[in-house]
This record gives sequence, C-alpha cells and structure tokens, in this order.
Amino acid sequence: MSTAAGKIANVKGPLPGPKSRELFERWEKVEAQCTGYQARVVWDHASGVVVTDVDGNTYLDWTSGVLVTNVGHCHPDLVKAAQEATAKLLNNYECLTEARVVAAEKLVSVMPDHLDRCFFLTTGSETVEAAVRIMKRATGNFEIISFYGGFHGRTYAALSAGGLAGPKKGYGPTVPETIRVPYPYCYRCPFKAKPETCGHLCLEFLDDAVRANSTGSLAGVLIEAYLGAAGFIFPPEGWMPKLEQWLRDKGLLFTLDEVQSSFGRTGKFFAMEWEGLEPDLVCIGKGIGSGVPASAVGARSEVIGVLGRGEMSSTMGGNPVASAAVSAVIDIMQREKLADNALRIGKIMKARLDEMKEKCPYVGDVRGKGLVMGVELVKDKASKEPAPELTKKLIDLAAGHGLLIGSVGIFGNVIRVAPPLVITEAEAHESLDIFETALSKL
Ligand SMILES: Cc1ncc(COP(=O)(O)O)c(C=O)c1O
Repeated sequence: MSTAAGKIANVKGPLPGPKSRELFERWEKVEAQCTGYQARVVWDHASGVVVTDVDGNTYLDWTSGVLVTNVGHCHPDLVKAAQEATAKLLNNYECLTEARVVAAEKLVSVMPDHLDRCFFLTTGSETVEAAVRIMKRATGNFEIISFYGGFHGRTYAALSAGGLAGPKKGYGPTVPETIRVPYPYCYRCPFKAKPETCGHLCLEFLDDAVRANSTGSLAGVLIEAYLGAAGFIFPPEGWMPKLEQWLRDKGLLFTLDEVQSSFGRTGKFFAMEWEGLEPDLVCIGKGIGSGVPASAVGARSEVIGVLGRGEMSSTMGGNPVASAAVSAVIDIMQREKLADNALRIGKIMKARLDEMKEKCPYVGDVRGKGLVMGVELVKDKASKEPAPELTKKLIDLAAGHGLLIGSVGIFGNVIRVAPPLVITEAEAHESLDIFETALSKL
C-alpha cells in the first residue's frame, strides 16, 4: 500500500486488485504465457509518468513500457498528431506521403552530421536485420563481430548476433559466422580486472579472438551503446572510441544499436554523441515513436546507398501514423528539452540510488547515465552472487507501494530505472521514497 500519503502513488489494496485478477485469469486461458515477469497489475491508462490500473490504483512508472514512452505516456501533442493522421490516411505502402518526407527530414536533422540518410521500419529487430544486411552487402563479406550479453531483438539475424542464450534456446543452429567477444561488464569482469587499471584488456582479447576466428571475411561490428537487456551495462569512458578506432583500422563497418539508447534516454539525443562516435549505421527504435510503433535505420548515404530500388521496403514502415508520430516526438523532445531533463533528473536519482547502495545489503551495483540506470541485486556484496528471486520480490513490493519497475540482466537481477523523460524532481523523489521503502522490506 502506498506510504506516500497525499502524493501521486495510491494503491488501495493488495495486488492484483479484483478486476486485474479477473483479467489475468481470462488471459491465461487464451494467450501463450511466454512474456517476462511483471507486477500483477493490469494497466488501464497513463499520462506522463503516472499509470492507472483497471482497479483505479495509481503508480509512478520507472519502465516507460520498456524504455519506449520517452515523451511521457500519452503526451497530448503525440496523441493529437497520431489521431489526426489516423483519420486522414492509414496505409499507402511505399507510395510517398508528405508526413514521411517531413519525418525523414526531422530525423536526419537531429542525427549527427555524418548520418545523412534514414529508412523507416516498424520494430527495433527489423532495423538490426536491415543493418546486418547492409553491412554484408556493402562489404561483400559475411562475418559479424558482436558481444556477450548483446540483445538486438528476436528475429533471426538479430538473435543470432545477440549474446544472450535465452532468445536462442531450442532454435539453433543460428546464423553462422558471428564472432562474439566480451562487452566490458566491469562489475563482473571476465578477466577479473579493474576498469581503472585494465587498459581495456577486453579490446586486446577482441583482437586475439578475431585473429583466431576470422577467415578474412569480416563485414562489421554490431554493438549496443550500452548493454540493455543484459543489465544496463555501460562501457567505461574511452572504450567505445578505442573500439571504433580498431574497427576503422581494420576497414570494418560499424553498426551502433541505439534502439533503446536514443531519443534522449542517456541525456543526449543519441548516446553516440557522448564520445563523438561516428557509426556507419545506427538502429533506432522504441522512443522514436514513444508508443506508436516506429523505427528507423540512420546511415551514411554511401553505405545505405548500396541498396538499389526495390531492395528494401516494409509493409508498415514509414506509414502515415508512424511518420506523424516521429515528427511529433522530435518536436516535443526539442521543445521540452527532454534530453537535458533526463540528464538533470538522472543525476538526482543516481545520487540517491548510490546512497541506497551504501545502506542496503542487497544492492551490489548502481550504474547508468541520464534516465537509464540499473540497480543490480546480489545475495551478498562480497561474493556478488546474483539475486533474481529478490528482484522479483522487489518488483512486487514496489508495485504494492505504487511504483512500477521491471527487471533485466544476464542473471535476471537488475532493476530497470527508466522513467519517461518528462519526470519532475518531485515525481523522482516520490518514486525513490517508494523504492527505498520496498528495498527495506526485502
Ligand atoms: C538494443 C535493442 N535492440 C533491438 C531491440 C529489439 O527491438 P524490438 O523489440 O522493437 O524488435 C531491443 C528491444 O528491447 C533492444 O533493446
């Protein structure tokens, strides 16, 4: 139950509430039960950072769906743009609309200068499929370098390149010729090194791994700006530029998967801006439509230009509603300076989460940037043994007090702290109060 009397969060009774319980029972009889662990809450409507369930309980939201509703749930300008577009034209396939032209112009204008083209698709996985295809096509080669813990989606090339076993279970053999190497997960370094002194040992290993495994047919590198599904794992400063230099020296193409790190999430419009990275291809999803299904590949014209007429299209990509949404989201992001807000509020939240880490015996690590942070739960700080069961318990405890959180992580033990970027300081503090209360009850 909410401890934050008189504030936003208000949970009136034990969860699931009666209407939620009834809907869960009906759902379990008709849809395959293969989604992840979530609080026992049936969402009804949402606005900004506040979600209301079908029983009338209200929650602060640290999920943004799954890092999707960056401009806030149901931002009125986005809703209006999508509604107007819906009433006007629903599908036109590849035939051009003004809405698509405007969306593409806006997207190119917010990307770093070297990325001068885009192509619209619908999901993040599709952008990864497209980027892998373009890397192979542009180089005439077929080997892809990717990373342990990487998650790029559940379609075939995307899951094959990924470095998580879950999505591949019972599905192999996956696409061959992927050389997978460690991402710098410094809290659990596979080389037992310290980031301050290791000199980026994992990059040396990458060089060795490529020498041992490549037949000389390398196309490029596919990498997330930070590992999302593996547990919000951020590379140490300087690591990505060094990787970029390495792949340039080898003449390889560089695809940066920003499906979840773009659209202000880390405190810059794109995460690549932090260290001035210049990928040849960038995968963009989730926040670009802020809830309206949309995605895009951003590219250098000379790279994406290898595809000629008729070589890439998508039934839904760039449809009028998605295009209107992309334009509205970019306008909102710029007008409301949401990347700046993510940075400002992110710092406040990180400071309080760091304090909680000192006090709580189960918080092993707090990491992140802007409004994407991971709280890694362990049974014991010295052994760092992951605590996935405590993580589930915390999700339920937090929901019971009016805060929606989800989990990620190679071990399923990382809490996602990723509220919509419109969150205010007061909302941030209220949500942190609830989180602290929930932690104290573990
Ligand atoms: C980094 C990254 N790439 C790709 C994807 C796949 O996106 P989608 O689920 O829209 O296909 C995700 C989804 O979580 C992601 O986090």
